[in-house]
Amino acid sequence: MTGIDDLPIRDELRGKSPYGAPQLDVPVRLNTNENPYPLPEPLVERIAERVAEAARQLNRYPDRDAVELRTGLAHYLTRTAGLAVGPEQVWAANGSNEVLQQLLQTFGGPGRTAIGFEPSYSMHALISRGTGTGWISGPRNDDFTIDVEAACQVIAERKPDVVFITSPNNPTGTAVGAETVLALYEAAQAAKPSLVVVDEAYAEFSHRPSLLPLIEGRPHLVLSRTMSKAFGAAGLRLGYLAADPAVVDAVQLVRLPYHLSAVTQATALAALEHTDTLLGYVDALKTERDRLVRELRAIGCDVTDSDANFVQFGRFEDAHAAWQTLLDHGVLVRDNGVPGRLRVTAGTPTENDAFLDAVRELMKEKSA
Ligand SMILES: Cc1ncc(COP(=O)(O)O)c(C=O)c1O
Repeated sequence: MTGIDDLPIRDELRGKSPYGAPQLDVPVRLNTNENPYPLPEPLVERIAERVAEAARQLNRYPDRDAVELRTGLAHYLTRTAGLAVGPEQVWAANGSNEVLQQLLQTFGGPGRTAIGFEPSYSMHALISRGTGTGWISGPRNDDFTIDVEAACQVIAERKPDVVFITSPNNPTGTAVGAETVLALYEAAQAAKPSLVVVDEAYAEFSHRPSLLPLIEGRPHLVLSRTMSKAFGAAGLRLGYLAADPAVVDAVQLVRLPYHLSAVTQATALAALEHTDTLLGYVDALKTERDRLVRELRAIGCDVTDSDANFVQFGRFEDAHAAWQTLLDHGVLVRDNGVPGRLRVTAGTPTENDAFLDAVRELMKEKSA
């Protein structure tokens, strides 16, 4: 039988496995940081209306520049993220993963490098690899905050072309302060200058304000967002960025023509009409996230402070064995490979209760 490695694939892809959390059929799935609440029925109806309208013109290519959608996203950011932005500063694609890929195709690539501070979102490294961009793993402190001095030093030495800062960070939940972003931005400009990408996929769940205002006057700073989490629309595949208009112009050089289908644009526009209802679910999830942190600590777990819709907890001698025990109790969480730790997504109150019961059982077995 022919295997992948028998094919004439690129050398750097040899022996690698595709990214993806297990999609197992278990009662409680808290492993991929999805929003547990289905879209509200009035929004489902609005999507059907908007998609029906779009369907009447599916013989035509969609708006290549997605102007109406980018205008809607710009309004959303202006209203919620602390800086007035226009559609010329916003770009949208199929999930923020595609936004990140377009950025790396534009600013990374063969002979160039990107840096992230690990543990962090593993797709930053994987998309770098996929675009032929060299990957540099930067340091973090023991409490998972970014070690600013060490980070600036490695930026000065290695002079990466792209710097990733994830706030709140996945999988640790740690938010990054504006002063840290500014320090790294200055270091990156002095070293190269390079593009600094702030991945704010979980921003709406944070106690801290968005880092969006920092893009003003900083043409090499990009903020990446998604509708997969706060908008409860992971299945939609809609991510976006905000940056200087020149960055938006630059990614046009690599985007596929008509990359964002008319159906996607129509659905995202419908979701934006229901922003306030969807942000109400975010409030409920923040309350549940804080409860998870409290109760896990009361059970005796070591829990990392979280500004996201998930919580990192431990410590386990063998995190994978702990993951398996929770799965045996019908609860799927994520083993991100952080030694001694697992990550749980905040679910509905009932799902979280089931998770907490499973952890209590796990801790009992551990101390028995
Ligand atoms: C930090 C971070 N960025 C980006 C993404 C990708 O989100 P999407 O491609 O669904 O927009 C995720 C998804 O889990 C994430 O955790």
